[in-house]
Amino acid sequence: MTGAFLAIEGIDGSGKTTVAKYIHDFLVDRGIEVVLTQEPTKGPIGDVIRKSLGKLELTPYQRALLFAADRHGHVQNVVMPALEQGKWVVTDRYLYSSLAYQGAEGVDMAFLRFINGFAPDADAVIHLEVPPDIGVSRLKNHDRFEDTEFLRKVKAVFDEILPRNTVSIDAGKPIETVLGKAEEVVLEMLED
Ligand code: TMP
Repeated sequence: MTGAFLAIEGIDGSGKTTVAKYIHDFLVDRGIEVVLTQEPTKGPIGDVIRKSLGKLELTPYQRALLFAADRHGHVQNVVMPALEQGKWVVTDRYLYSSLAYQGAEGVDMAFLRFINGFAPDADAVIHLEVPPDIGVSRLKNHDRFEDTEFLRKVKAVFDEILPRNTVSIDAGKPIETVLGKAEEVVLEMLED
């Protein structure tokens, strides 16, 4: 069994982190080697991004470039080595978050695709779909992206840009239902 690259995407408050961790544990229980990771990363550029989201004023293009720079390290140092070793990689956000969030901020889509051109597509994407007002109501810390109107735009861009190998899950349903659906996606990937 070779590895696979699964990205979990969705707006803030959609439950990505819970689902990503659940899938990680589900795979580990089956003896499968898996790396659970996320963007923004915990590396130096990820730290700059997290600080800048709440405080520093950056332009949308500066943010797009920072997310792409962070992703380059993520792909090169974490994702590709794990896949080359036959491991699974489950990432809590990836490339598609840049297209959706920075696209919703008005950054040109061709520019976003160009600066992220190094990033391989995921083998599958799980899109956790939740109405933006429910997403926002689940959040504890509000940063600049956690605004219902903005998240409505982000969701609309996600709907446009997510690749064909995306499975959408209604994340407004009880968590057991959401996790059950995510499990089905992973079982199908394991059968392929
Ligand atoms: P998180 O809440 O999943 O840790 O992500 C932090 C914020 O960063 C979240 O509001 C989404 C945003 N984001 C982007 O705008 N572009 C990106 O490329 C990524 C990975 C995240």
